[in-house]
Amino acid sequence: MNTVVRNANEFANLKKASEILKTGELVAFPTETVYGLGANALNANAVKKIYVAKGRPSDNPLIVHIDDLSWIKKLSVNVPDVFYELARVFWPGPLTIIVNKSKIVPFETSGGLETIGIRMPQNEVARKLIEISGIPISAPSANKSGSPSPTKAVHVYDDLKGRIPFILDGGSSEKGIESTIIDITSKVPCILRPGSITKEMIEKEIGRIDVDKSLLSSEKFNLLPKAPGMKYKHYAPKANVTVFIGEESLVVKKINETALGKDKIGILATEQTKKFYDDKIFFVQVLGDRNDLQGICNNLFNSLRIFDGVGVEEIYAEGFSELGLGFSIMNRLKKAAGYEVVIC
Ligand code: TXA
Ligand code: MG
Repeated sequence: MNTVVRNANEFANLKKASEILKTGELVAFPTETVYGLGANALNANAVKKIYVAKGRPSDNPLIVHIDDLSWIKKLSVNVPDVFYELARVFWPGPLTIIVNKSKIVPFETSGGLETIGIRMPQNEVARKLIEISGIPISAPSANKSGSPSPTKAVHVYDDLKGRIPFILDGGSSEKGIESTIIDITSKVPCILRPGSITKEMIEKEIGRIDVDKSLLSSEKFNLLPKAPGMKYKHYAPKANVTVFIGEESLVVKKINETALGKDKIGILATEQTKKFYDDKIFFVQVLGDRNDLQGICNNLFNSLRIFDGVGVEEIYAEGFSELGLGFSIMNRLKKAAGYEVVIC
């Protein structure tokens, strides 16, 4: 299959993308979090193609993207009031809300579950695409299953060329990490995946919420996460990743010691620490300024992908404090590392 990449800011290309979606084919498109691989959420055959293109396990549900609240009554049942409180504050935006699904949503979209995740994206291209198509669009991140999520069209192309017909290029994603997922089908709403909307931000609006216990444990596969996709090793570059956590100078010291005498080591460093790494280290990638966590999010997946291109054999990543956005960053880093963590 020939994969075409087109500028998302030209209306003719958006129109073309919507036509492809309506015929039951796939289109990759930008959102403010990461690029999505879209299909008509109500067409089981179209949705099946997403799993094939990504190599994604079929028990891993997709997020349904909408442009208008009028879809809620069609896609879901028994919607609690808290849904509307969350939507009023955080939509359009990087928050996915899990609700009970209606009959029109095929089980291919919900990964066999009775619930679905719904999100109204903020990104203009994404919103327009849904609007012109006139359908809800189910879209996981547009990467090969297991690799880092795409924050640029070229990442999608690298992973899925020859497997999908069309990519809309809308530049770099503004947020850089995937949406926060909150399940409101339980008595107390529960965060299943942390993102740029933090627990603190949500609690300010709706009071106390839970965080899925599996997110709090650093042990490998210790608890089964409630979001099926969170159980897989993910965001991983080809080389093995280890995350080093602790006080900054101790982390640098430990990484230098561990790298000593080894070939082809890659370091995921920060502006604050880059100058302290041994000159003999093969490759140092700077993620950004430690004090600018949004900037770190923007560079995270791109930086992990860069290691693939330079042929490092092992990656040592500096960790972050798990407060606020740091919790979401560490979630992605620990998963990239398959929970290989060294405490310094
Ligand atoms: O920011 C995002 O959410 C991006 C953009 C494209 O919107 N999408 C995204 O999709 O990250 P994906 O498929 O890579 O991740 C969706 C996650 C998976 O971990 C999946 O298991 C979980 O959401 N999920 C989806 N529906 C669910 C449900 N009904 N119950 C529990 N978890 C669900
Ligand atoms: Mg994904």
